[in-house]
Amino acid sequence: MIDQSNLPKHIAIIMDGNGRWAQSQGKNRLFGHRNGTEAVHKVVEAAAKMQIEHLTLYAFSTENWNRPKLEVSTLMDLLIKALRRELNKMIKNNIQLRSIGDISKLPAEVEKELQETIHKTSHNTGMILTLALNYGARQELTQAVQQIAAKVKNNIISLENVDETIINEHLYTQNLPAVDLLIRTSGEQRISNFLLWQIAYAELYFSEVFWPDFNERHFEDAIISYQKRERRFGKTSEQLTHS
Ligand code: IPE
Ligand code: IPE
Ligand code: MG
Repeated sequence: MIDQSNLPKHIAIIMDGNGRWAQSQGKNRLFGHRNGTEAVHKVVEAAAKMQIEHLTLYAFSTENWNRPKLEVSTLMDLLIKALRRELNKMIKNNIQLRSIGDISKLPAEVEKELQETIHKTSHNTGMILTLALNYGARQELTQAVQQIAAKVKNNIISLENVDETIINEHLYTQNLPAVDLLIRTSGEQRISNFLLWQIAYAELYFSEVFWPDFNERHFEDAIISYQKRERRFGKTSEQLTHS
């Protein structure tokens, strides 16, 4: 069913619906987050097996700090546990872990665990798994503008040379290709401050499934949907088929 010659190079996922999944069965939101980590595991394994080059997961946004304290601390706790639990599997599956977002503002223990896991998987040559943690696209663009402005001011780069490449190089995603396929679960159809620059030409796929129920099959469905689309990048359909 999946065409191996037309895989999206970079898939990004807004993993949404943990809270509603739990509440729909009379449980509290934290129960949903715990079960959400199981879906992460399944999708990461499926993507690696399929030889997807880049998978980027939105795990915690700059806006998520506004949630109840206990929910935030539970999410941080689950992250540490998941990193510890998954390390050996990431090594076995040749997955390289990276992160985007301002991780210096995460609890010290989370940042440490994350840095260690990133370090321990840094020689892996397979799929690049990027976790967006304390990530917000507006924050990312703001810090990029600040860095570029400082370089212009100090004559490190000239104003005329500020182009898309320079902007790209100052984003957290500097070493990642543009997103080809963006998936959001839980029926919400919005971007919620995720990768605004990088999704400029991404194909969008919205699934009704709450994140804890999202599995390999749903992930494959998203890729099949992607493969049926014609990515025109501004051209006409005729130009694409006659070239
Ligand atoms: C996604 O599920 C997890 C995070 C945002 C951290 P939610 O917690 O947003 O679940 P809903 O959207 O409230 O159902
Ligand atoms: C987006 O989900 C952030 C993550 C999945 C980490 P939210 O549940 O926070 O998004 P909104 O606030 O409903 O748009
Ligand atoms: Mg949500």
